[in-house]
Amino acid sequence: MGEQRIESAKEHFGELLGQQLERIEYLKTEAEWSDFSTINPIIIGILGGDGIGPTITGEAQRVLEHLLQDEVARGKVVFRVIEGLTIENRAAQLKAIPDDVLEEIKQCHVTLKGPTHTPEQGDGWPNIESANVAMRKALDLFANVRPVRIPKEKIDWTIFRENTEDMYAVGSQGINVSDDLAVDFRVISTQGSRRILQLAFDHAQRTGKNKVTVVTKANVVKTTDGKFLDTAREVADQFPELAWDSWYIDIMTAKLLDLERRHEFEVIALPNLYGDILSDEAGQIQGGVGTAGSANIGKRYAMFEAIHGSAPRMVKENRAQYADPSSVMRAAAMMLEHIGFQELGSRLHKALDVCGQYERKIIMTGRSSGATGTEFGEYVMNTVIDPTLEARWDEYSTS
Ligand code: IPM
Ligand code: MG
Repeated sequence: MGEQRIESAKEHFGELLGQQLERIEYLKTEAEWSDFSTINPIIIGILGGDGIGPTITGEAQRVLEHLLQDEVARGKVVFRVIEGLTIENRAAQLKAIPDDVLEEIKQCHVTLKGPTHTPEQGDGWPNIESANVAMRKALDLFANVRPVRIPKEKIDWTIFRENTEDMYAVGSQGINVSDDLAVDFRVISTQGSRRILQLAFDHAQRTGKNKVTVVTKANVVKTTDGKFLDTAREVADQFPELAWDSWYIDIMTAKLLDLERRHEFEVIALPNLYGDILSDEAGQIQGGVGTAGSANIGKRYAMFEAIHGSAPRMVKENRAQYADPSSVMRAAAMMLEHIGFQELGSRLHKALDVCGQYERKIIMTGRSSGATGTEFGEYVMNTVIDPTLEARWDEYSTS
């Protein structure tokens, strides 16, 4: 009996290895980065998602449409709303992303996506793969870039989370070897590590940062994290003018709470699951995960989203209208920067700093004791178009 189980587990493992080796062959082929200055029109897809998703995404869409109205008028930008990426539809079709929805997503150059419910074993939904994870893989969105900034504390972190490998590569394809023994697989490749590390070091150099921090647990998880760290050494050699250091994930989570030292971190590069965890912590430090945006970047496509989930509890308790849209608005600002409207993106970031961290004239609590997402969205909209924004931001961030 035991032997049969081992044989079938080995067979399953063999198949996974075959798929992964094939994926790595694909990674070896060098794709070109999209050049948005030559793309006409740039098609922006909007995916509402589940739970609080449609509500908060609607607020971000409104600001985006406003900021890009001239671009839409001159035909440089087109908005397209894509339906069907809902848990009901995904569950009915037993697909992480229904085929027709994926086709529509691929017709867009970039997408703004609301959070999508991710089923887990025993929650009543079929245990399909996460739509996020599936989209990251299907569009090869290998870099998850998550900025966290608190200007008054001199904190300006940019997290570069690897987005297609690690525990996520085959996270839905683990094996129950017996009733009592479950095994998942962690996958890290040289090519997958190199491209995220290169992007992180490039970013540091381009934006005038001094240091890249690489985070692993290579003292314990020797083979896969060992490869990530070895690759970091190799990439760092190409950037002799940048400093870099290596931290373990446990002490790193502690150091983000060290008020004396945490502002010394600048660019942080790490494998997928550690990046998932550390970016939630960093988002919380900024004022809550509801304030942090996330860019999923590939060479061809890019998808922008909140770093948090769909908050089904808020919907169940009839509180969706009190959900904070800041995170998706941050994601929208990152999208603007990515597709070539750096100036507009920077304004939106500054408006969110001013509304969320400095003036705080409208406070959200997630409940009826605070403002609604629409009220906050209007506050951001009024701030972003106000000619005094830059001066106000400068004043707050230096005082
Ligand atoms: C995130 C989320 C996702 C992840 C979930 C929803 C699958 O937590 O984007 O950080 O784990 O990557
Ligand atoms: Mg997460």
